[in-house]
Amino acid sequence: MKFASPTVPGLERYAAQELKEYEFEIVDIVPEFVIYSAPEQFWKRRIPRGVMAIYEFLEMHRSISSFRLEEAKITVHSNAHPYRELRAMVEQELDSTNPNDRVIWATGEYILILRDLGLNALHARPYLKFRHPAALNPVLAHLMLRVAGWHGESIADPFCGSGTILIEAALHHGKITGFGVDIRKEYVAGARKNAAAAGVNIRFLRGDAQELHKYGESKYIITNPPYGLRMGNRKKIYTLYEKFAEELEEHFSGSILVVITPVSKLEHYFTVLDSLEIVHGKLKNKIWKLKI
Ligand SMILES: C[S@@+](CC[C@H](N)C(=O)[O-])C[C@H]1O[C@@H](n2cnc3c(N)ncnc32)[C@H](O)[C@@H]1O
Repeated sequence: MKFASPTVPGLERYAAQELKEYEFEIVDIVPEFVIYSAPEQFWKRRIPRGVMAIYEFLEMHRSISSFRLEEAKITVHSNAHPYRELRAMVEQELDSTNPNDRVIWATGEYILILRDLGLNALHARPYLKFRHPAALNPVLAHLMLRVAGWHGESIADPFCGSGTILIEAALHHGKITGFGVDIRKEYVAGARKNAAAAGVNIRFLRGDAQELHKYGESKYIITNPPYGLRMGNRKKIYTLYEKFAEELEEHFSGSILVVITPVSKLEHYFTVLDSLEIVHGKLKNKIWKLKI
């Protein structure tokens, strides 16, 4: 049976990597989606962490002109803003008064026709009891671990907020050696609450990322620092990034840093191993994989 799963735009090949590990055959990768064949009802055994929903794949059209809208009695989806215009065109043509279990997804130059299996919103993880105002999508957090190439080595999140990255690491890998730091005590308390709800044991501490070495050592540093849009201003952010980079240079030489941010700064201090443009919420963002 063929399935289609949306994922974070820009990280499709990392979601496909996870599906391959389950020994599913990848049929196609299109913007925002991985299409794969798997045994029927495979999700009853294991739900992939790097995708946001699981649909049955029915058909795909390459462009709006080859898609016969009059045959569709469906709902339209797509969260990624680059495709909004295309989605609006499809929406305009649809008879939304007559929905059934077919779903249309307009993505890039493709239109996917899918069947709803009731497995959407997989990113709404039940452990998220405490809501951070700038929380990372847990699917994205999981995929950042894959971008890092992390396989259970020591791990730290110096700007941990509600703890999403480390909780995803522990849920995927089991027990982890790691710690998370945040400057605000209410977020540290929130991260502890979420970890308890997820049933994982992680050390979350109140602290300053600019003095990270005081809290522990780590081979992998995977993090989502403030951007200066929703919190604080740009000048302060540049200074914070500079001090953070100096701290890493001095105390974490040889470690891998994976960071998601729209702010260009940290990559000037370290060796760039990879950079990926992704869409997170309404923002265009970059994931950098750097060697310290
Ligand atoms: C974008 S949020 C991280 C959100 C987190 N990934 C989550 O999913 O909840 C950035 C965090 O950095 C924290 N922060 C800001 N300056 C800091 C500093 N100097 N040291 C440690 N944490 C800091 C903020 O309190 C905020 O929680």
